[in-house]
Amino acid sequence: MTITIRPLGPTFAGEVSGVDLRAPISQEDVAAIDAGMDRYAVLVFRDQLISDEQQMAFTRSFGAIEVAKGGNITKDDEYRLQEGMIDVSNLDKRGQPLERDDRRRMFNLGNRLWHSDSSYRAIPAKYSLLSARVVAASGGNTEFADMRAAYDALDDGMRAIVEELVCEHSLIYSRGSMGFTELTEAERAMFKPVRQRLVRTHPLTKRKSLYLSSHIGAIIGWPVPEARDLIRDLTEHATQREFVYAHVWRQYDFVIWDNRQTMHRVRRFDESKPRDMRRTTVAGDAMTVEQAPAEAH
Ligand SMILES: [Fe+2]
Repeated sequence: MTITIRPLGPTFAGEVSGVDLRAPISQEDVAAIDAGMDRYAVLVFRDQLISDEQQMAFTRSFGAIEVAKGGNITKDDEYRLQEGMIDVSNLDKRGQPLERDDRRRMFNLGNRLWHSDSSYRAIPAKYSLLSARVVAASGGNTEFADMRAAYDALDDGMRAIVEELVCEHSLIYSRGSMGFTELTEAERAMFKPVRQRLVRTHPLTKRKSLYLSSHIGAIIGWPVPEARDLIRDLTEHATQREFVYAHVWRQYDFVIWDNRQTMHRVRRFDESKPRDMRRTTVAGDAMTVEQAPAEAH
């Protein structure tokens, strides 16, 4: 079978047919999917009933799997899924929905803010791959925003302002903006802010995009309120409906997105029922900007 892609969204997102993610994938198919990602930034594969092992094997076709460490507050004995798999369900390790006041649930509510996965890492993620094992009866859509189209739509004055800016990203900022501030000293150290360019250039297509994320809490050299005002303005601009594709999940959908070119968020759903979504992540290969020098002691 040959891979075909049909457009889904306004400026991006495509639906792929002609590939079975359970089987080993050929180099030609990997190249076709990579080319599709460069163009569409979000790709949807329907009816892919896969195991965790098959998902990890498929993910490795596109690069190394990102290590999850440092990205959450889940304790070592609380994990439901094996290493390499990121649990974005609402479930504990017994498969039960997390209690309303569970710390992990409150932390995970941050996924309802527009963000780019792992933008709080010095080397941020390339692709995220999400498998829908059990979907919500209603709600729980994932919305994606095209950060290339958002950049293209900026006027010249704003382009000049943002071009060389460097932001600080941290889970402390995104969770703090929701009022979740009860972090231990060890968590604060783990979530130490990192620097990212605000404008990224795709290495192959050379298209520029806005690298926005709710993890941003500061712009280097700017007063904090002024920085947050600009980031809010840009986020509002970038998430206008004309730049957004809303994915309505069906069971066994498999969606890949490029974190370098898009933001996403999940919408609310009935959390009393299981919603089992499993993510793998392809690690990025470079920092977007040099990090701050280590503090002197
Ligand atoms: Fe995410």
